[in-house]
Amino acid sequence: MPYLYGERIRLRAAEKEDIPVFVRWINDPDVTENLLFVAPWSRFEEESWFENMMKRPAVEHILVIEIHDDKLHSNYLPIGTCSFINIDWRNRLAEIGIMIGEKAYWDKGYGSETMRLMLDHGFSSLNFNRIWLQVYSKNKRGIKAYEKAGFRYEGMFRQGQYQHGQYYDVHLMSILKDEWLALKTIN
Ligand SMILES: CC(C)(COP(=O)(O)OP(=O)(O)OC[C@H]1O[C@@H](n2cnc3c(N)ncnc32)[C@H](O)[C@@H]1OP(=O)(O)O)[C@@H](O)C(=O)NCCC(=O)NCCS
Repeated sequence: MPYLYGERIRLRAAEKEDIPVFVRWINDPDVTENLLFVAPWSRFEEESWFENMMKRPAVEHILVIEIHDDKLHSNYLPIGTCSFINIDWRNRLAEIGIMIGEKAYWDKGYGSETMRLMLDHGFSSLNFNRIWLQVYSKNKRGIKAYEKAGFRYEGMFRQGQYQHGQYYDVHLMSILKDEWLALKTIN
């Protein structure tokens, strides 16, 4: 798959050389606060996960979110990852996941821009009809970013997550191809 370009970001395939950065991100408690990770994650575990991930179909491979930065020699700085998972080709639906691991780049619109780029890729190239996600109810930043990209709340797994000694609801959000096309017409 060629790089996907947005206004301020690009998405590229992940490489083995990205693993040390991934390990740093997923061992940062602020980053993992709203992710599934519940234990420290070693480089060895990440390498095993990476190898297994690469055995899955290419459209499910993890993509690296990069921003353009004139100060850098390479001009691009990796700030996070995203991917489609659990693709169901018969029903043309996919779940999506995202992590911006560089905290300094939160709240700058990169998460919602990444989602918009992935929606464009998912609906116009991969011909999905429905893209959905799970987000913890306490992840207000995530919920807002997904709403900005066009996702709608559709329900929840009540008390679906146990963390810090208590249960939290897990929200389900989704967007259909028709809704995405309508948004494109407006914008
Ligand atoms: C969640 C995440 C993908 C969002 O990406 P982002 O680039 O930070 O999000 P955006 O800047 O596009 O949008 C965030 C919005 O939430 C708002 N926001 C931030 N904290 C908020 C809070 N506590 N309550 C309400 N809104 C909040 C921001 O102001 C912004 O809205 P605005 O553009 O109208 O000002 C990213 O922060 C991240 O990866 N975090 C760590 C891992 C994670 O939570 N992954 C998602 C798991 S479902």
